[in-house]
Amino acid sequence: PATMGSSLCSVAYTMSDFDDLVQKIKTCQLCSLSHKRTHAVPGEGSRTADIIFIGEGPGFYEDQQGRPFVGPAGRLLEELLASIDLKREDVYITNMIKCRAPNNRDPLPGEIKACKPYLDKQLELIGPRVVVTLGRYSFAKFFPDEPIGKARGRPRRWNGLTIYPMYHPAAALRNGNLRSLLEKDFLALPSILNGEPPEDEKEPDPEAKQLGFF
Ligand code: URA
Repeated sequence: PATMGSSLCSVAYTMSDFDDLVQKIKTCQLCSLSHKRTHAVPGEGSRTADIIFIGEGPGFYEDQQGRPFVGPAGRLLEELLASIDLKREDVYITNMIKCRAPNNRDPLPGEIKACKPYLDKQLELIGPRVVVTLGRYSFAKFFPDEPIGKARGRPRRWNGLTIYPMYHPAAALRNGNLRSLLEKDFLALPSILNGEPPEDEKEPDPEAKQLGFF
């Protein structure tokens, strides 16, 4: 079988590991969101991507199609990717929870917990270098109890990964100020992928120094 490398370790994973995971997500019954879904939304994109985007959870259109970020927020995400010459297929796109919550309400702690092994396995199999968290729920997976407004736009180290927090595209669609910041944060992504801090953060602050990013 075809093998995939992981930048985190030398284990070679087979395609079927990934296919098995996708199948498990599609048929998951671990929480009550499974009862009302049209489709589970495992994620999509390159299985060897350097960058993984983690959103919150599927909305109406995602539930209908079984694909992540295909509604209005997804169109903005595609525009933002295009601004740095990337396409959906160049990255991997997934969510904290894989099934739609009723009326797009916020995910509950129990739902995030039930879905956690799926996301952890995706991170393990894909082995990205940079994890872009979109919105507060995916940021909280790595850095709980920190406000996203302060964290956004600053890459952080976490277990050998670079976590790059951004606002959620849906929030940016509602608020032009957030949209400008999201656009700016996207433009810094290529240099972050190359291990450089964003342009306006070349002078490290003491906290960042302590975290060992620079
Ligand atoms: N919002 C998300 O967080 N994820 C999607 O897949 C779509 C909208």
